[in-house]
Amino acid sequence: MKIMRNVAGLTLAGLLLSLASAHAGDAAGARWMSRPAAAKPVSIKVYKSPSCDCCKGWVQHLRDNGFKVETVDMEDLSAVKTKYGVKPAFEACHTAVVNGYVVEGHVPADVIMRLLREHPAVAGVAVAGMPSGSPGMEGGSKEHYDVLTFDRAGHTKIYAHR
Ligand code: CU
Ligand code: CU
Repeated sequence: MKIMRNVAGLTLAGLLLSLASAHAGDAAGARWMSRPAAAKPVSIKVYKSPSCDCCKGWVQHLRDNGFKVETVDMEDLSAVKTKYGVKPAFEACHTAVVNGYVVEGHVPADVIMRLLREHPAVAGVAVAGMPSGSPGMEGGSKEHYDVLTFDRAGHTKIYAHR
């Protein structure tokens, strides 16, 4: 077909073939089709105290990283922590829920994205206490801290170190 030839003499079919081979292993263009879904923001629900500034800081950190954040202000979060298996040993100021996982405290956005990508068999992730320099806790000196995974029984494992 004449219409399929461009000035350089390459056929359109040849061009498509080279595009296809450049993406060999992508399961016949599945990557292209999944792009709009991948760009969709991740929704996260954050239970927090209305007066907590570091909670607001963390919510802003999530929004800055493309999360769609819904906040629920509560004076007493103890019922939420009990419901989601957050033990006193690793609790912090706010508790969030994202795609079935619990996120306790000032967990960095990239660690949440890693959790969603790796999908480990855990209840959630936590940054215990409120380490200075964690997202939402900026301004002071930078403390090192661990991001833990935890299960419903309260067992924890180190997932990331910052
Ligand atoms: Cu806090
Ligand atoms: Cu908080």
